Amino acid sequence: PAFTDYQAESATISQGLVESNHAGYTGTGFVNYDNVTGSYVQFTVSVTAAGNYPLTLRYANGTTIDRPMDITVNGSPAAPGLSFAGTGAWPTWADKTLTASLTAGTNTIRATATTANGGPNLDRLRV
Ligand code: GCU
Ligand code: CA
Ligand code: CA
Repeated sequence: PAFTDYQAESATISQGLVESNHAGYTGTGFVNYDNVTGSYVQFTVSVTAAGNYPLTLRYANGTTIDRPMDITVNGSPAAPGLSFAGTGAWPTWADKTLTASLTAGTNTIRATATTANGGPNLDRLRV
């Protein structure tokens, strides 16, 4: 199926840094969330037709502790407290998929860390 990739390193970042020190990312790097509650990455996503879409976040979490994030679409909760469990190592990346309702045209998708550990390292959003 057709899909579009939105790189985290090209998104709007609040309290995070673009880095490339762990292999296996796509694009030119990934976002290292600051390890604080409220750090986020925000994507602007365009679709031609309104409807439910799978949203797949590619991430790494080299710890054994979950790094949950609230996923919002256009400011409304789409997946509160979505789990981003440990992937075994920082260079080991995994996909997490949720389904969300998008409107035709531009949508704002934000992934916000909900614990003081911050989010996982985030590579991209695939829509
Ligand atoms: C390490 C790792 C970072 C990661 C951080 C964290 O410093 O190199 O990529 O973001 O741990 O615990 O969040
Ligand atoms: Ca971090
Ligand atoms: Ca990337």
